[in-house]
Amino acid sequence: MFDPNRVHFFDTTLRDGEQAAGVNLNATEKLQIAKQLAKMKMDVIEGGFPAASPGDFNCVKAIAREVKGVTVAGLARTKEGDIRAAAQALNEAERSRIHTFIATSEIHMTHKLKMTPEQVLAETKASVSLARSLADEVEFSAEDASRSDVDFLIKIFKLAIESGATILNIPDTVGYAMPDQFSQFVKNIIDGVQAPEGVIFSVHAHNDLGLAVANSLAAVKAGVRQVEGAINGMGERGGNAALEEVVMGLKTRNDLYNVTMGMDTTRLYPVSRLISRLSGVTVPPNKAIVGTNAFAHESGIHQHGVLAHRETYEIMRAEDVGSVPAVMVLGKHSGRHAFRDRLETLGYQLDNEQVAKAFDIFKKLCDEKKDVTDGDIEAIIADQVLNVHPEHSFELKEYAIGVGAGLATATVVISRDGQEMRDAATGNGPVDAAFSAIKRAINFSPLLENFSIRATSPRSDAMGETVVVLKHGEVTAQGRGVETDIVKASIQAYINAVNRLYTQAAAREIKLEDHPNANIC
Ligand code: KIV
Ligand code: ZN
Repeated sequence: MFDPNRVHFFDTTLRDGEQAAGVNLNATEKLQIAKQLAKMKMDVIEGGFPAASPGDFNCVKAIAREVKGVTVAGLARTKEGDIRAAAQALNEAERSRIHTFIATSEIHMTHKLKMTPEQVLAETKASVSLARSLADEVEFSAEDASRSDVDFLIKIFKLAIESGATILNIPDTVGYAMPDQFSQFVKNIIDGVQAPEGVIFSVHAHNDLGLAVANSLAAVKAGVRQVEGAINGMGERGGNAALEEVVMGLKTRNDLYNVTMGMDTTRLYPVSRLISRLSGVTVPPNKAIVGTNAFAHESGIHQHGVLAHRETYEIMRAEDVGSVPAVMVLGKHSGRHAFRDRLETLGYQLDNEQVAKAFDIFKKLCDEKKDVTDGDIEAIIADQVLNVHPEHSFELKEYAIGVGAGLATATVVISRDGQEMRDAATGNGPVDAAFSAIKRAINFSPLLENFSIRATSPRSDAMGETVVVLKHGEVTAQGRGVETDIVKASIQAYINAVNRLYTQAAAREIKLEDHPNANIC
């Protein structure tokens, strides 16, 4: 039964979110995230843009095949090839949605599309009609809607409905809108279109002015019933609307919005951590809803107030978003059952083989440190279970580091397809020397775009989790490493990033330079 007050959530972490600079998730990681999004009862998951690359196509296909209980969407321009690719990728979905879009603002139509408004209308009609014949439902987005003419939007949305679309999306593509103005803008569109029952309006806000969540909430107030966004607000430039903030805003102030929703909010925190770990994009501690300090009261006055009566300073409970500390610390006496339980609480859905692999690594880690924290477990899964190593990948065999006064030296031995390559280099510190040694050994010098190290827990026996982002030509890839020894973690992250550069280049049919002079020994 159609509920006009129900707000639907459309997660685009795996499509628009993944467009964030330096982020690239492999198919196993995307599938893991999609399973968790489905478990939290997300209404729609946009798995990717199937026509963009074979890699994207395969990810959407895998999500459509394996993730049930959720609508799976694939993005498509209005081109026939895009729509057919999306339909093909989605054909095993329990419920499929083709999300087709075209720009409607004067500036985009003139300078980007080089089309007249009449041509844009004709494209819309043709693409929505074709999409409707190939998928369970069609969403139509008017790209750059917030800078488009309202009368033109009303016309194009009416045409999209006539052609078979049931979800009409109003994107604030460049994050230009202001909440009051946007609310009125959206209301004018909804009033002008007079959509039949069963058709809903959607909003897709970007965060260039830090207003994506505010604009999304303002749009709900104006009558929108689908909100698009990404967990942790991930996305290019300022990011997308942080879905966890929109969800909790609506839930906490439902006195103002009076809407219903299906989301299990207690999964927000685990899913946020999972996405942060796999994407390498850290969540600031003071981030609303999912930051580690989001529910921490530091000042004496606040602590006193909360102890006397929780609601003096708390508008939500940590439990409502699943941000509860581990009740159990795992160690060498923990069995497989407790370990699997903890994995599920942390938001992982692994098959038996993956659990067995993770458990083996966990047991080895227990020999190195007394207690294994959630952070350690998450890092192991992200780095060693979901981080699949493609064929022909480089692998670290051995390394040695020497650190003297002001100079470090590193020697590395790396293998690929059974062949060993070795070299040595000096550097400002051990990591600098090791990265130079790797580049010399494999005779490949991508640009280091980013490098970070964080501890998996606030303890001196924590593991070091490193993220390296490398760029070569137009391909960017991110690699991760996790080890108790942070130099080794850095080396692993670098090699992992090189492997991912190759995988991505292959998926996009781009040839990276060969390695004729690799230092094979
Ligand atoms: O920001 C945007 O306009 C988009 C569309 C494809 C919906 O991402
Ligand atoms: Zn977008």
